[in-house]
Amino acid sequence: MGYVEAKLAPIRNTGDIKLQNAEAFEGMRRAGQLTARALDMVTELVRPGVTTAELDRAVLDFALDHNALPATLYYRGYSHSSCISLNHVVCHGIPGSRALRTGDILNIDITLIVDGWHGDSSRMYAVDKISRKSERLIEVTYESLMRGCHAVKPGATTGDIGAAIQTYAEAQRMGVVRDFCGHGLGRLFHDVPNILHYGRSGEGIPLRPGMLFTIEPMVNIGRPHVKVLKDGWTAVTRDRTLSAQFEHTVGVTETGVEIFTGSPNGLDCPPYATV
Ligand code: MF3
Ligand code: CO
Ligand code: CO
Repeated sequence: MGYVEAKLAPIRNTGDIKLQNAEAFEGMRRAGQLTARALDMVTELVRPGVTTAELDRAVLDFALDHNALPATLYYRGYSHSSCISLNHVVCHGIPGSRALRTGDILNIDITLIVDGWHGDSSRMYAVDKISRKSERLIEVTYESLMRGCHAVKPGATTGDIGAAIQTYAEAQRMGVVRDFCGHGLGRLFHDVPNILHYGRSGEGIPLRPGMLFTIEPMVNIGRPHVKVLKDGWTAVTRDRTLSAQFEHTVGVTETGVEIFTGSPNGLDCPPYATV
């Protein structure tokens, strides 16, 4: 696997890591910010009685109102505008008729395509008052994501990101999911390299300015193991313990990291009311 100037490469996954220019970063800022605004918008819709299909519909309407398309629509047979993962669902929960209930925690994952660029981000939401245990899981997962983001700089490696996440989450006695990872993206939704949320510092692929990828750790209160349900998408914890996830789309700059999907309203990790 080598590195290639993105402008000179086809959009598809060629196995080479694309290094993007300033114009691409501008496009990623627009896509990332619209995605963050979509995640902000759903914040006030999350309340008891609302179905996950209704939340998904609001995401589709928001996208279409802003000249964007949800990347998950018709992606590999998926047919929704978001993934909504409740409680012990790790990721790729399918929106449907399930109504939210007091005490639920949920992840909403949205990827919007704006002028061909992908902004991919997810956050945790709480329905009304949640348990202290749920709140702690959410806080640890958010802190894991941010530690991963701050490990990003030229010369660091993908293993430094994974190590930052794993070391912290496991010190809090929580399990880091191994079966899903972050990914390169840009004009493509899922590209090389894989960004593992575990690993050893100094291992993996060296980071270079111009690389674009997501960091999206999934953290479980219990063991890290997951299984995928018969619908082919929904991943749940094997031990049925609660799971949380946060995701940002980032770029490697000359000096460090740029987070494209930060909330313009300070809602990256809202305060959660506990019982
Ligand atoms: N947004 C997810 C990610 O973070 C991917 C969802 S693919 C879907 O990479 F098909 F499940 F929607
Ligand atoms: Co992603
Ligand atoms: Co995502």
